[in-house]
Amino acid sequence: MRWLSLLLALLGSAAVTGCGDALRDERIEALGPEVEGVAPGPFHRPGQPCTWCHSDYGGAAPKLAVGGTVYYQPSDANKTAFPVDGYIVELEDARGVIMKPQTNCIGNFYVEYTEGWPYFPLRASLLAAQGMGGSAKVASMSTRINREGSCAGCHQAQKSASSPGPVVVPGKDDQFKAPGAGCEGVP
Ligand code: HEC
Ligand code: HEC
Repeated sequence: MRWLSLLLALLGSAAVTGCGDALRDERIEALGPEVEGVAPGPFHRPGQPCTWCHSDYGGAAPKLAVGGTVYYQPSDANKTAFPVDGYIVELEDARGVIMKPQTNCIGNFYVEYTEGWPYFPLRASLLAAQGMGGSAKVASMSTRINREGSCAGCHQAQKSASSPGPVVVPGKDDQFKAPGAGCEGVP
């Protein structure tokens, strides 16, 4: 199958030179269409890699520096994780500049792109509101983010050899409830 390896080599070189990046187009395509009943906006596409689209390459507005979704994993591992509202994602860049976006009812959070932030690498932690304007750190990622602005670029829905699974907050089942129909992100 000489032609096949030739084709793969051609595709590969297109990917590095970036002239019509077939691999990038393919992975964006694979995310599928919008869910019916949810408008494109802060509540759409939970769990997906926001910056693949919200970037110069992807073309969706606004351009985002960082974006992701935070979940709770029920103690019964057979139950799927569901998004959590009101958690703070602390993002500290290499120069010590900190952004603190908060998750909405579908678990999504993001930081819009601005010139000069972030300087990679970036560290990520999760904070829970503790009342009176205070908050406490509940989880920190020890790995540094070097480039990928989307948490879902690494944190996929299923834990595997190549992914740590979704970004999750620790806690007990009776603390959390899946978002209801009142949430804009629920179709
Ligand atoms: C598959 C591509 C894609 C992904 C993935 C994606 N978006 Fe979007 N998003 C869009 C498009 C398209 C629009 C509509 C605006 C436009 O066409 O430029 C949009 C709109 C938005 C808007 C702007 C709404 C407004 O009216 O100004 C926000 C905020 C947003 N998305 C946040 C997110 C977040 C957060 C994530 C990740 C959890 C995400 N998006 C993932 C394609 C995407
Ligand atoms: C380059 C890949 C990558 C990206 C991008 C990434 N993570 Fe992670 N994350 C990991 C890996 C690997 C682990 C498991 C090892 C560790 O804790 O560092 C992890 C673990 C975590 C943990 C768990 C720590 C614990 O105690 O269980 C949190 C919280 C976390 N990430 C948050 C985030 C957030 C929020 C984002 C997006 C802003 C993000 N991560 C983006 C790779 C990534």
